Amino acid sequence: MEELVSLCKRRGFIYQTNELYGGMQGVYDYGPLGVELKNNLKQAWWSSMVYERDDVEGLDSSILTHPNVLKYSGHEDTFTDPLVDCKDCKSRWRADHIDDGKCPSCGSENLTDPRPFNLMFKTTIGPVDDGSSFAYLRPETAQQIFTNFKNVVDSTSRTLPFGIAQIGKAFRNEITPRNFIFRVREFEQMELEFFVEPGSDEEWHQKWVDERVKWWERQGVDKNNLEIIDVDQEELSHYSKKTVDIMYKFPHGLEELEGIANRTDFDIGSHTKNQKDFEIKSDVMKNDDSVTKLAIQNKINNSWTIPYVIEPSAGVDRGFLAVLNESYKIEKLENGKERTVLSLKSHLSPIKAAVIPLKRNNQDLVDRAIELKSQLQSIGLGRVVLDNAGNIGKSYRRHDEVGTPMCITIDFETLDDNSVTVRDRDTMEQKRIKLDEISNFFVKNL
Ligand code: GAP
Repeated sequence: MEELVSLCKRRGFIYQTNELYGGMQGVYDYGPLGVELKNNLKQAWWSSMVYERDDVEGLDSSILTHPNVLKYSGHEDTFTDPLVDCKDCKSRWRADHIDDGKCPSCGSENLTDPRPFNLMFKTTIGPVDDGSSFAYLRPETAQQIFTNFKNVVDSTSRTLPFGIAQIGKAFRNEITPRNFIFRVREFEQMELEFFVEPGSDEEWHQKWVDERVKWWERQGVDKNNLEIIDVDQEELSHYSKKTVDIMYKFPHGLEELEGIANRTDFDIGSHTKNQKDFEIKSDVMKNDDSVTKLAIQNKINNSWTIPYVIEPSAGVDRGFLAVLNESYKIEKLENGKERTVLSLKSHLSPIKAAVIPLKRNNQDLVDRAIELKSQLQSIGLGRVVLDNAGNIGKSYRRHDEVGTPMCITIDFETLDDNSVTVRDRDTMEQKRIKLDEISNFFVKNL
C-alpha cells in the first residue's frame, strides 16, 4: 500500500486534500493522471451498463437530499456505526474495528459502551442557520434513483425489467477512515437500480452477480484475487433480502469492492404515496408525505406493481485502488536493473500514447511530433501527450510507471522515410511503423 500511495503522489494520481493546511482525514484529490484513470473506469462502467444494454437508462441527480428521502429510506434511524470513546486518550473508534476490548491508540481498556453514530452529513439550506431548513449530503446515490423512478418511467415508457444507472459522489462521516482511498468520507459510487417483477428477483440477482464479476475481470482484476461471499443474515442492511459482496484482496486485506443487493420492494414501497393500495411485502414506514405514486403499470393487464430492486453498487475509489494494485509491478530487467510498470488495460490508461521527439531542440523533429500528437488526439480515444523532455530512456521509464501503453519516437529516420519507432509498454519491444499506418495501429492496439 505504501508503494502505491507513494506512486500516486509522485506521479500525480492522488493527493491528500488540503495538505497545505494539514489535510483532512478521509478526503483525497485526484491529480492529472488520477482524474483520467478514474474517468476511464467510470466510462467503462457506463458503457457496459447503459450503452451496451437496451434495458438501462442513465441519471445524474442532486447530492443535496431532502430529509424526508432519508427518513423514509430508513437512513435516519439505521445508517449508523457503533462508536466507542477511549476515556483515557479521548480517541474514538468503531466498536467492530476494536480487538480484545483495547483502545488501538493507547491500549487502555477504559472504553465507553458502544453507541450508534449516524454517518450522514447535514448542511444548512438558505441564509438562516437556525436548524429549521437542512439537507443531507446523500450517503448513497441510490435514493435519488428511487425518487426519480416515476419521472424516468413517464419520460421513457419503460416496462419491467429495466434499470437506472448513476455515477456520483456519496458522503459518509466514517468514524475511522483508513487505508488510503479504501474507506473515505467523500467518495464516488457506480450504482444500478434494476427494477424487476416480484418473483423474478432471485434469478436477476444471480445474473447481476455473474455479470459484475465478469466486468471486474475485464478491468484487469484477476479472478483469483476476488471472492464472492453471501453476506450473513445478521449483517444485512435494513432493506436487503440477500446481498452478495464481491470481495477483493486489497493490499491491506480482503475487503468489499462491490455489493449486489436484493432490495425487494422496500425502497419504492417506502417512497410511494397511498401505500395501502399495494401489497408491499417489506416492512416500510407509513408515509403520509409523498405526493407521488411510485408504481409501474403492466401494459397488458393494466395492473400496477411496486417492483423489486436488484442493486449492483460499486465504489469508484475502491475500484481505482483495485486496478492500480492489480497492475503495479516491479520487474527485473536483463541488465540487472529494475523497472516499475503499471500494466493497466489500455482502456483505463490515463495516457494512451506519448509522442517523443528524439531531440528536444530539433525543430523538425518537434514539429513532426506536434503534428502526430494532434492527429492521434483527434481520434478521440483519450489523452495523447507530447513528451519533449529530451531523454528517451527517462521518458520510457516514466510512461511505464504510469501505464502508457505505447511510446512513439520521432527520430532522424522519420524525416527521411516517414516511419516512427513504437515501443510497447508490456513487452518493451520496439518496431518501425510507417506514419500513414500509425492511426490504424493506434486504434487497433487500444
Ligand atoms: N446503495 C448501496 C450502498 O451504498 P454500500 O455497501 O454501503 O451499499 C456500496 O456501498 C459501495 O460503495 C461499497 O461496495 C464500496 O465500494 C463503496 N463505499 C462504501 N463506503 C465507502 C467509503 N467510506 N469509502 C469508499 N468507498 C465506499
